Amino acid sequence: MKCERFFEELWRDFTRLAPHAASIAESLSQLGERVVNDHVAFRTFNRGPYSLEALEPILLGLGYRPMDEYRFEAKRLRARAYLRAGQPRIFLSELLVEQLGSWAQSAIDGLLSQIPAAPLGPERLWSGRPWRAPSFADYARLSEESEYAGWLAAHGLHANHFTVSINALETLRSVEQVLSFVESLGFSINEAGGRVKGKPEDLLEQGSTLADSIEVAFAEGPRTVPSCYYEFALRHEVAPGQLYEGFVPASADKIFESTDRKR
Ligand code: NI
Repeated sequence: MKCERFFEELWRDFTRLAPHAASIAESLSQLGERVVNDHVAFRTFNRGPYSLEALEPILLGLGYRPMDEYRFEAKRLRARAYLRAGQPRIFLSELLVEQLGSWAQSAIDGLLSQIPAAPLGPERLWSGRPWRAPSFADYARLSEESEYAGWLAAHGLHANHFTVSINALETLRSVEQVLSFVESLGFSINEAGGRVKGKPEDLLEQGSTLADSIEVAFAEGPRTVPSCYYEFALRHEVAPGQLYEGFVPASADKIFESTDRKR
């Protein structure tokens, strides 16, 4: 699969879960801006057939190479960033399931045991939930322990967020200007840890919307839960003409909270 088609399909799936992102992209285009995707992020469990190591060959097959690895201790995550020249960066994180309590571990194992054996092609990354609808009670209990675990149990595999490159914008030049524009459209901003995450000296400044809420099927019937959000990234130069390519765990930590239920 070509990268262009990969990102088209991924965006189509993502905007079903986060319709506000399509609205924002459309409004930026109407301003005359070129909407360039800085990166997409995926979430997974570190156990079973969809671990980071298992999914990585899909990204390598698309021509990406691993750039760096990150730890998010408080969120119990490990992540890797991947680069391919001329394409959006990809950020793949996995939850360190063994660091959760025993109830959560067995609930997650119960989901993972339902994943059918199947070849792992790129379309897997927007294939959604490969397990039966969990009970809403289990979803809520999992989310208490790890919002990330609850999100994955409810939604499965999708892009968790797309990211507008502020560097590619002409009229909106800072994260705060973009966030104000997004608010002027009627959408909410994730203010956990401050509206703008990161400082110029971190080389990466980011902000994000709050996730949309969508109806998801649970064993008890449909419930409305947070889905996906849109992120905005401004990268600074490490050398003249050369932008910082990495990610900054200290600031990304609070960005993960864009999908929290209690806000
Ligand atoms: Ni991100």
